Amino acid sequence: MCGAWRIGRRRALELGLCFALLPRQALAQTEPARERPKEGDLLIAVGGASTPEPLKADDLPLDGKQTLAWPMEPETKVVRNGSRLNKVLLLRLDPEGFDPETKERAADGVVGYSAICPHTGCDVTNWHPDRQVLECPCHYSIYDPKEEAKVLSGPSPRRLPALPLKIVDGRLAVAKPFIGRPGFQQM
Ligand code: FES
Repeated sequence: MCGAWRIGRRRALELGLCFALLPRQALAQTEPARERPKEGDLLIAVGGASTPEPLKADDLPLDGKQTLAWPMEPETKVVRNGSRLNKVLLLRLDPEGFDPETKERAADGVVGYSAICPHTGCDVTNWHPDRQVLECPCHYSIYDPKEEAKVLSGPSPRRLPALPLKIVDGRLAVAKPFIGRPGFQQM
C-alpha cells in the first residue's frame, strides 16, 4: 500500500494510512539524528566509509586542514546528520598555543567547533596552516581555533561555538554540549 504513492487519485488518503502504519520505532529514530551532540557521542568523518569508524586523534593531521565530522550516538550508531547544525570541525594542533579555555576543552590536542559560520551559515572549510587560522569561504571571516575560535576579522558577529572533547577507549568523544548556539541569524 505504502508503495502506491504514484497513484494520484487516492494519494492523500494513502499518505495518511502510510504514516499511521509506520512503526513507532522508525518515527522515533528520526529524532536522535536531529538532536544536538550529547556527552559520549563519538565522531565520524563526513562523507567517510558506509560503515563509519569513529575518529581517533591520530586520524587527524597535526597542524593540517580541519576534518568535518558528525556526532554519532555510540550505542545505537545513529549519526546525528539530520540537521546540518550538528556538523563539527575538528583540528589537531599543538596545545601549547591554546588559551586556558581551549586547552580545557581539547582532547589530545584536538579541538572541536561548529562547522557552521555564524554570519550566514556557510561551512567553514578553509585552513591557513601558516597562520593557523580558519576561514569561511563565503565572506572571509577568520577565526582563531587556539583562542576559542574568536573572530579575528570579517563580518561574522561571533565566535564559532565550541564542542568540548574527551578521549573514550582511544576514540574522540563529545565531553559536553556545544558552548554557544550553532547556526546563524537570518538577515
Ligand atoms: S557566511 Fe561565513 S563569513 Fe559570511
